[in-house]
This record gives sequence, structure tokens and C-alpha cells, in this order.
Amino acid sequence: MARIAILTVSDSGAAGGRGDVSGDTAERRCIAAGHTVAARAIVADERESIAARLREWADSGIADWVVTTGGTGLTERDVTPEATRDVAERDVPGVPVALWVNGLKQTPFAVLSRGVAVQRKRTVIVNLPGNPRAVAEGMDVLLPLFPHAARLMAGPMEHTTPADSGRA
Ligand code: MTE
Repeated sequence: MARIAILTVSDSGAAGGRGDVSGDTAERRCIAAGHTVAARAIVADERESIAARLREWADSGIADWVVTTGGTGLTERDVTPEATRDVAERDVPGVPVALWVNGLKQTPFAVLSRGVAVQRKRTVIVNLPGNPRAVAEGMDVLLPLFPHAARLMAGPMEHTTPADSGRA
């Protein structure tokens, strides 16, 4: 199982204007799948604030994955991908592709999310859209990836995928 931190990016959420339905959705899905929610926070759509929180969580090693929700679209305030790239050490480009492919089964608008996935130290950071339904759909993709990535980042290991186990 893996340790997940959830960062909700929302101006109104940070101002206390409304409940954090997206963050709650992500948390519920993590717990139901047996993962630990290591941290949760809400920040405004400010590039520096987002990047600071991502840096703090990755550098302290509290989480194997950070899932952000919101701020991935096309409005001027949407800067979550830029903040995520600010803290990136490496790209993990397949994860957003999987999110798009799965999202396209639900809505053609899925590709309007500019979300990225990156690695910083032993943490993968991935951006989901802010819509709670998009979060639920995104978690369907991410949940199976969490434990294997966590094991890989924990240190040297024999690289077997779950599908390999049981093979001669
Ligand atoms: N992805 C999925 N799976 N389901 C959705 O409903 N909504 C899209 C897209 N990705 C959606 C989705 C829409 S309408 C937008 S504008 C973008 O995510 C960006 O959303 P954000 O600005 O809340 O991050």
C-alpha cells in the first residue's frame, strides 16, 4: 500500500468559501483501496504557494504520491501544471496519457486538462482536474499504480511487475 498526500488547488476553497468535495473524493477512494492519506491541504491558485507545498511534502518524504486537484484548465488562474513543473526533477509522462485515455471514455473535454505527472525525490506528483467526477475517474487510473511506484521509489528492488509474479 502507499502513502498519499492530497492537495486541493482552489481559490474559493482556500478562502473557506466552499467545502472540499474534490479532496474528499480523492481521500475516500484512497482509504477504500487501503492506502494511507498522509496529508491534506487546500491552497489558492497561486503558483508559488502550490510549488511550496509540493516541495515541502516531497522533500520531507511523507508521501509516495501527491495528488493535486484543480487548476489544470485553460483559465488565467489555472497554474497547477506550471507549479508542478517548477518542482519537478523528472517527468512521468505516461500517467497523464492514461488519465486522458480513461477520461475520454467519459467526456471529450478530458483533454482540456493540462495536468502533468512528475517525480521529485521519492515522490510522484500528479495533477487531476477539479471536478469531483473527474477526480473519481482519475483515481480509477491511479489507485492501481500507487503501490508499485511506491515500492520502486523505496529503493533498489528486483523489478517485477505484479503481472510477472507467479511466472517461472
Ligand atoms: N477529466 C475527466 N476524467 N472528467 C471530466 O469531467 N473535465 C474536463 C477536464 N478533464 C473532466 C476531465 C474539463 S471540463 C476541464 S476544463 C479540465 O479537466 C480542467 O479542469 P480544472 O481546471 O478543474 O483542473
